[in-house]
Formats: sequence, C-alpha cells, structure tokens
Amino acid sequence: MLTHQQFGTSVDDAPAAADAEQARRPLRIAVIGTGYLGAVHAACMAYQGHSVVAVDADAGKAAALAAGRPPFFEPGLEELLAEVAPTGRLTFTTDYALTAGSDVFFLCVGTPQQQGGYAADTTYVYAAARSVAPYLTSDSLVVGKSTVPIGTAAAVRDTMAALAPAEVTVRLVWNPEFLREGVAIQDTLHPDRFVYGVQGPTAEADIALLDRVYATSLADGTPRVVTDYVTAEMVKTAANSFLATKISFINAMAEICESAGGDVVKLAEAIGHDERIGRKFLGAGVGFGGGCLPKDIRAFRARAEELGLGQSLAFLHEVDGINQRRRDRVVDLVAQLSGGGHAGVRVAILGAAFKPHSDDVRDSPALSIAAALQDRGAHVRVFDPKAMPNAKHVAPQLQYAADMWDACADADVVAVLTEWPEFRTADPVALANVVRRPVIIDGRNALPGSAWTAAGWTYHALGRAAAASALPRKDSHS
Ligand code: UGA
Repeated sequence: MLTHQQFGTSVDDAPAAADAEQARRPLRIAVIGTGYLGAVHAACMAYQGHSVVAVDADAGKAAALAAGRPPFFEPGLEELLAEVAPTGRLTFTTDYALTAGSDVFFLCVGTPQQQGGYAADTTYVYAAARSVAPYLTSDSLVVGKSTVPIGTAAAVRDTMAALAPAEVTVRLVWNPEFLREGVAIQDTLHPDRFVYGVQGPTAEADIALLDRVYATSLADGTPRVVTDYVTAEMVKTAANSFLATKISFINAMAEICESAGGDVVKLAEAIGHDERIGRKFLGAGVGFGGGCLPKDIRAFRARAEELGLGQSLAFLHEVDGINQRRRDRVVDLVAQLSGGGHAGVRVAILGAAFKPHSDDVRDSPALSIAAALQDRGAHVRVFDPKAMPNAKHVAPQLQYAADMWDACADADVVAVLTEWPEFRTADPVALANVVRRPVIIDGRNALPGSAWTAAGWTYHALGRAAAASALPRKDSHS
C-alpha cells in the first residue's frame, strides 16, 4: 500500500497537499456572450482543461456552436470545437441556470458604438452582470473581458452586489482581451500579456483564482500586469488608440507622398528599422475598420469628454479623420482614372471584410468605398472569399459577384481593398484578359506592382509615386 511518504510528502503535509491538489483542479467556467471573443475564449478554456458553459441570448448562435458550426468565420475555430467536443467539457446554451456553481464567470459581450453617438453602448455588459448575479457565491469570481469605458468595472460590481444573494461578497476582476480576429485562437492561447484590474479586500484571492484559469499560459511565461480597475479599462482603449494612431500616422505620410511624389512603403520600411518605431501597423492603405479600432477611439474620446478631459484625446478626432479621408481618396482616384467622373464606370471591388482571414464587415473600408462609388453612379461589383453573406446583409443595395473573375469582368477599374491571399497572388496576365481596361488600385499596398505593370496594367498604389503620377502635383515650383 502506498503511503504519503512514498508520494514524497509526510502525513503532516496532508492538508497542504490537499490544498495543492485543489489548486490544480480544473475550474468550472461560465462564459457570457459567444461572439468572436466569447466563443473563442470558451473553446480555448475548454481546450486547456476547464469545464465551460457558454451562454448566449441568441438561440440560433448557441445551437450552431453546440453543433460545432461557428456562426462566423474564424480560422481554426471549427477544428478546435471538434477537438474539444468529445471531452464533454464545452456546453453552449441560452440557459443561465446552467452556470450555477461556476468558479469563474467571464463577461464577453460586445460594447458597440451607441446609435446616434460616439460613446460605447454598455447595455449588454450590465445585462450580463445582472444575469449572473443570482448565481454568484463568495467563492466565485466575475471576470470582465469586454472593452468598456472608464468607470464601468466599479459600476458593474455595484450592480451585481445589489442583485446577488445577501450574504455574498461580489468579486470582480477586469481582464481586457487583446485578441485579433483572424488569429484569435493563437492570441487567446498565447497572449502577449494578461492584465488584471483588481480592487477591494478580495484582490489577492481574485488574482490567485484567475491565475488558475490561465495556469497553462502563465507557465509558458506570459507576462501578467496587475492594476486597478481604471488602469485595466484604459489599457485596452489606450492600446487600440495607439494602434489606430500608428495606422493614421502612416496614412498621413501617404497623403504627403501622393502629393509630393514619395513612396510610403519605403518610408515605412526605413522608419520601421528604428526599433523604437517598429514596422508593424505601418501598413498604409485604405485604413482601419472592424468592430474595435474605430468605435474604441470614438468611445475613448467620448468618455474623456464626459470626464472633462476632452482635450487630452482631441488628437483621436484627427486619427479618425485621416482614416476616413483614405476612403474618400479611393473614391476620388476611381474618378481620376476614369476621365473625371463616376457615372457608368464599372468598378470591381475585391474584398468586403475589414481585413483578410475574417468575415467581419463592421465599419469595413471596402464596403464603405463600394457604397460611396455606387452612390456617385458607378457600377460596382463586390467579391470577398468569406464575407459575402455578411456583406449582403449590411449592404444589400450593392451588386455582388460569384468570384474574383466575375467581379472583374468588363471592369474599368479594379480596386483591391482587402488583402486576401487570393487577390495578392492573382495572375495579372490572366486577369487583364477579362477586364475592359487594365487599371488597378492597390488599396492595401499588397500586390507585386512590377508584375502588374509588366502585364500591361496601370498600377496605382496608395501613397506611392505610381499612384501620385495620376494626380495633379501640389508643387509650388510648377
Ligand atoms: C484589434 C486589435 O489589434 C486587437 O489587439 C484588439 O483585441 C481588437 O482590436 C479588439 O479590440 O477586440 P482587430 O480589430 O481584429 O484587432 O484587427 P487589427 O488586426 O488590429 O486590424 C484593424 C484594422 O486595421 C484592419 O482594418 C486592418 O486592415 C487595418 N490595418 C492594420 C491597417 O490599415 N494597417 C496596418 O498596418 C495594420
């Protein structure tokens, strides 16, 4: 018979060993909201060994995920769901009662831009908080992952405290999520860092419990920064604001290059060699879109204004403005390349998603450019490898093509606005045979320009000398 001694522990150590055993126990986790964030988080937590119940108010979404069919495109998610399903550790439901007994409740709902304003709509965060409150115990922890305005975490904790059973001390950590769509699984399993915003008498225990959730990633060496609530809320919006500013900075340089005759891609390469600057997120083109960067910089500014600090973030207005001008620039360029007007010009729009490897069309530069061209009388045909259903849903007025070739048939101008691999590697010789005029706008600086030029195309890249050549130079010496 094995004794405690043989396990390398003494009888006196038994309570400590039991504690250690308890600390290693996989956790029961509830995830509220199963959008890009929640569905990926739930699947990854189950993959790492925890038992997960994921709740969504949308029965169709919950049913699709339960059947292993994500209602959106995220590379690897379907495979991950299939891998986790046989373990029985992952449940999708609409029933909050199934979250009873969870150790940790993750709030992963969206915070979209308010209708008719710039502030974030936190309705879903408070609704999720109210829904989990009855199931809380003093041992359980609520972890907010949504991107929220300053002051939300404290208010959410108060909301739950008012609704939780009387004897319960509500425990809350704000733990912003930094995943990018398209690489969301990689970002969740191997994040750059964890941020824990903690506050109150249970802070130490809260940190210890969240460390157990993330034990696998922490063991891999992922850094962890512990802050107060406000700092944690700000880390997320500050990070997204910085990224948006970096993109708009290089796009402002693109505007100068277009007018003065420079090459923004070379400029980015050259300044990017400075490690303090770095080459990442200096991709000039039609700018940023999606469900995060645009609305987060607006919400951050709106909240700063509410706090009487509008001046501190006034520059984000210009960041947004530069970004919008990039879209206008493509609309103008189509006219310039077509003899001055839009009426009757046939434009192939390649791309509808806000970026490749995603089917998300929220605030997509490609769709907003397509709509603006159509409003001005152009004949627009849009194609995207993954985002067609979403694009048709949000922009039903546009014409859609069956594939890239169909979109380009008889086109006067082809505009590549989302840099999907199939567009980057398209054969310029073959494509020249289907268009009416071989004119291409490289809206993402993603194509091998010399190959397109060699194939007889008039190639225009945003922020590069070739694109500028079609424009009147604003040269004071001329
Ligand atoms: C962004 C952040 O990168 C994530 O860290 C954050 O977690 C997420 O928002 C969020 O708040 O949830 P995401 O919106 O998935 O992630 O996309 P990004 O990869 O950041 O791209 C945003 C937009 O910027 C895209 O339209 C992309 O085409 C554009 N972009 C990106 C450029 O125009 N140039 C670049 O150099 C890089």
